[in-house]
Amino acid sequence: MVNVVLGSQWGDEGKGKLVDLLVHDYDIVARCAGGNNAGHTIVVNGVKYDFHMLPSGLVNPNCQNVLGNGVVLHIPSFFKELETIESKGLTDASKRLFISSRAHLVFDFHQRVDKLRELELSGASKDGKNIGTTGKGIGPTYSTKASRSGIRVHHLINDQPGAWEEFVTRYMRLLKTRKERYGNFDYDYEEELNRYKNIYRQKLRPFVTDTVHFIYDALKSNKKILVEGANALMLDIDFGTYPYVTSSSTGIGGVITGLGIPPRYIETTYGVVKAYTTRVGEGPFPTEQLNEEGEKLQSIGVEVGVTTGRKRRCGWLDLVLLKYSTIINGYTSLNITKLDVLDTFKEIPVGISYSINGKKLDSFPEDLLVLGNVEVEYETLPGWNEDITKISKYEDLPENAKKYLKYIEDFVNVPVEWIGTGPGRESMIHRDI
Ligand code: GDP
Ligand code: IMO
Ligand code: MG
Repeated sequence: MVNVVLGSQWGDEGKGKLVDLLVHDYDIVARCAGGNNAGHTIVVNGVKYDFHMLPSGLVNPNCQNVLGNGVVLHIPSFFKELETIESKGLTDASKRLFISSRAHLVFDFHQRVDKLRELELSGASKDGKNIGTTGKGIGPTYSTKASRSGIRVHHLINDQPGAWEEFVTRYMRLLKTRKERYGNFDYDYEEELNRYKNIYRQKLRPFVTDTVHFIYDALKSNKKILVEGANALMLDIDFGTYPYVTSSSTGIGGVITGLGIPPRYIETTYGVVKAYTTRVGEGPFPTEQLNEEGEKLQSIGVEVGVTTGRKRRCGWLDLVLLKYSTIINGYTSLNITKLDVLDTFKEIPVGISYSINGKKLDSFPEDLLVLGNVEVEYETLPGWNEDITKISKYEDLPENAKKYLKYIEDFVNVPVEWIGTGPGRESMIHRDI
């Protein structure tokens, strides 16, 4: 049986925290898409863990963790992250990690190209704007995957005669085409190749698994799998605010293609929704508040990106967007996170429709020239002006907080099952639905 946790907005909704909370019920936690562009923070007994590439299920000692074929893997960052969490006390983490042999590798030159492309876009694009990527080489790696010139984990660890030479040939061909495209940038490829040959090839081998069979066997023996979504629906390559998106399928589709799980095994899909909206990087954001309210959300919510340290842009909850996200991912229930951040707001507007030139739109616009110019109609809901961080039962929430949650439920027609009231593991209200 498979359950899925997905980000419903532009990321950083608090997916990692929900995964951490649920994980004691699961045998396996799997990542299906993205790479170390993700940043999932979990706070356990006051200790903060930042996961980027690794599944958050590692926090639970009984849980096995999978990086599926849909992820892209920067091996140096992977080992660095593993060392960091092992040094925080998760000493057996490496024994519980399984990496798909089909996952694509991110090389340092992909990261260089990521930054070169951003520079190129900031000068040359029509609106003079780059994407605001994390610079982790994600886009360039998915590009080489799609153009069928990428290099996968199995290419690296293959120890048949001639396999290493073939790896080098692939690598050099890939680097050559990147240099042709992005100028003959300085690059110490010999140093990188040496690391792959003398360190990573051996060091990675114990982790590499045919995860298709690993997951198939797990499902056959009735094990429970939790898929940890990375990034979020509005960053999806198809459904997000293209081109201000990441380069993978971050929605429900990516779960199937990124792990090889038949859809019929998926029982529930939990949508994680921040009680307001944030976005890191460029691109339209209709409910953004470039004012004191936005700054207040940013500072109370400590809205700073885990991966790049950038301040997150902040605004009100956008229900037009959430409805669109719900249509695509089919959430069976929601986790509203960071409700406590709204404790001191007297009134809380939520976006309920978009208009352009006075005409209401009846669907979420695909064209950014439209999305960037919509007027948002807001419903203003009363605040509760009360500290909710110590509340552990739904019934004890202030009436106006309940009304806020009910408004969301009614708008998207999905029940709210969890409510986040603080960053710690204990700060989550569960509600029977
Ligand atoms: P993810 O990428 O979706 O896993 O989310 P991030 O970890 O990037 O960002 C969410 C941030 O909010 C983290 O710093 C969490 O510790 C914090 N957080 C999660 N849930 C809550 C909540 O209910 N209240 C508060 N105040 N903070 C929360
Ligand atoms: P989690 O899992 C927030 C954003 C980047 C940028 C765009 C493209 O923590 O929710 P990329 O490096 O992927 O090519 O960048 O996508 N982005 C995220 N924003 N949370 C994330 O992940 C993100 N992953 C990518 O800021 O705007
Ligand atoms: Mg994050």
